[in-house]
Amino acid sequence: MRLVITTGCAPRLESATDFKRFSLRLDLVPGHDHLTALAPVGEADGDSHAWVRPDALRALSPHAGQSDWEEGFAAMLRFAAQHGWTDAHGRIRAHIESTEAAIPVAPDVFRAAMRRFASGVCIVATGAGEERCGMTVSAFTSVSADPPLVLVCLNRASSAHARLTGDGVYSINILAAGQAELAMRFAGQTGIHGAARFDARWQQAAHGAPVLRDCLQSLICAPSARHEAGSHTLLVGQVIGTGGGAGRAALLNFDGTLQPTGQAA
Ligand SMILES: Cc1cc2nc3c(=O)[nH]c(=O)nc-3n(C[C@H](O)[C@H](O)[C@H](O)COP(=O)(O)O)c2cc1C
Repeated sequence: MRLVITTGCAPRLESATDFKRFSLRLDLVPGHDHLTALAPVGEADGDSHAWVRPDALRALSPHAGQSDWEEGFAAMLRFAAQHGWTDAHGRIRAHIESTEAAIPVAPDVFRAAMRRFASGVCIVATGAGEERCGMTVSAFTSVSADPPLVLVCLNRASSAHARLTGDGVYSINILAAGQAELAMRFAGQTGIHGAARFDARWQQAAHGAPVLRDCLQSLICAPSARHEAGSHTLLVGQVIGTGGGAGRAALLNFDGTLQPTGQAA
């Protein structure tokens, strides 16, 4: 197996069922030190080696808990111990392969590029009564039809983030042309916060999430998976209900403006 640590990304484990070899690759942007990069998984031992905690590897393996994987992993740890490649804490010694990661473009260059991508606009919402919260999202995509999965990318700095990434059911409401004011309201641009963003246009769906009555389509989602990436949480939801579907124009997010699309057929 190979543990890969890249600046700005969560650590990941490649070839998690290959117990015959173990290595650690650091892809660091120049100026980022390897001591900090290694902290979530272990500790540096000089410049070229590291001590890696087995529990960190287990946490990253999609097969942890499966008997085959656990047996293979235990055998790998025993093999490492016999060769003196573990320390008093049971941590495994790994040779660090360092590569210099490509330097990312500046955030404003990135934003200018992404403005050229036309997308729809949604409001993601959860909770009931005074506990309701929601935010405007354009980073929304279909993932899989069977099972039905969708993805939204949520900034950890937004006020609704903690609740939207909790265990509750949430709705994704695809906005129609003419709903730009709602997009701005749920983007925090109108000074209205929390449950006060919701008005009579919202109703409570059977599954408990608030649903926007007059949008193009609502999808009710149960949380299925989360993944941290940069400043955002990628939230995958299983679609457990849909509603709406009026054949009207959609709201389009393009080049920094919200504009209506053509009429649906
Ligand atoms: C058109 C539009 C699209 C947006 N898309 C996203 C998105 O995909 N993900 C995200 O985290 N924030 C997105 N935002 C920003 C959030 O809506 C905003 O940061 C957040 O709702 C702020 O909420 P708060 O005032 O409750 O913290 C978008 C905003 C607008 C106006």
